[in-house]
Amino acid sequence: MATIKCIGVLTSGGDAPGMNAAIRSVTRTAIYHGIRVKGIYRGYKGLITGEIEDFETQHVSNIIQRGGTILKTARCPEFCTVEGRALAHETMRAHGIDALVVIGGDGSLSGAREFAEYDIPIVGLPGTIDNDLYGTDLTIGYDTALNTIVSAVDKIRDTASSHERLFFVEVMGREAGFLALNGAIASGAEAAIIPEYAFEKDQLAETIENGFRKTKNSSIVLVSESESTGGAMKVAERVEKEYPQFDVRVVILGHIQRGGSPSAQDRILASRMGVAAIEALLEGQRNVMIGIVNDTLVYVPFSKAIKKNKPIDEDLVDALRILSI
Ligand code: ADP
Ligand code: F6P
Repeated sequence: MATIKCIGVLTSGGDAPGMNAAIRSVTRTAIYHGIRVKGIYRGYKGLITGEIEDFETQHVSNIIQRGGTILKTARCPEFCTVEGRALAHETMRAHGIDALVVIGGDGSLSGAREFAEYDIPIVGLPGTIDNDLYGTDLTIGYDTALNTIVSAVDKIRDTASSHERLFFVEVMGREAGFLALNGAIASGAEAAIIPEYAFEKDQLAETIENGFRKTKNSSIVLVSESESTGGAMKVAERVEKEYPQFDVRVVILGHIQRGGSPSAQDRILASRMGVAAIEALLEGQRNVMIGIVNDTLVYVPFSKAIKKNKPIDEDLVDALRILSI
């Protein structure tokens, strides 16, 4: 057993529903094992400036159901520099923190991997709605965001079918299509345009036209916000120009996808992963992210979690194509 007396916990990068459940779980599990906890505010920024508070169990009471993060989050370019990380290390030592739990997406875990230059035990939790970290089936926040997308698309469907329109709905995901593809399947959308697959404009138009010709009175296409898709506005412009027969509208769901009370699944995932993070540190693990594969918790080295592209399941692509006839 490694001797860890005090851990720091921080949330970094884009917020995700379930981050509070993760903070609660990390804090309570550490205290359960007799380890002191310091809450670090505003991610790596707070680690540099020393915005740090002693956390007791009551600091994490009544937060499991809340979206966002009580520790706040921030982007901190300074942490990408050797000098910035040196300052963060000094602050850690001054506060007596001897291990870290970092909750965030691939950027935040890249930062954690760089910080390993100081030989500090660090464990990461995958906190991002994008579900784009390799080595884990799910990330904290993804399920809630997916449900937010589905409930928004259900509403858009009402107006789409009343007006017999074609809607392009842009969803988040950075360079990953999980939210768009599974959001499309779960909401009965006609198609998804995702970064992992080249966008065939004419094929999309044919699918939509066939649908209208047969039985459909509306069409909804989910588009991943990404450089490779160009986003919903660009896709809509291209389709509209060549297929003026469609009455096209665009909706960009934006940050509503990041907010809201976490789903039961995200609360449970965050709670399990928080317990596992502290147990991993006690076992002497370091530089690993906690992942979940086939409902079993696993350790994924940071280098794998952030470097490898998580593949899209082709069965899902096929299912959407088949079901949208
Ligand atoms: P996310 O964790 O949601 O992917 P970002 O990509 O914005 O969010 O990253 C969050 C923060 O992580 C950055 O502002 C920076 O402080 C830190 N970070 C990201 N990449 C690196 C890196 N290569 N080296 C050091 N720190 C990094
Ligand atoms: O990582 C989550 C995410 O929501 C991405 O899907 C999106 O590209 C990005 O964050 C937007 O972040 P922000 O608006 O906070 O800069």
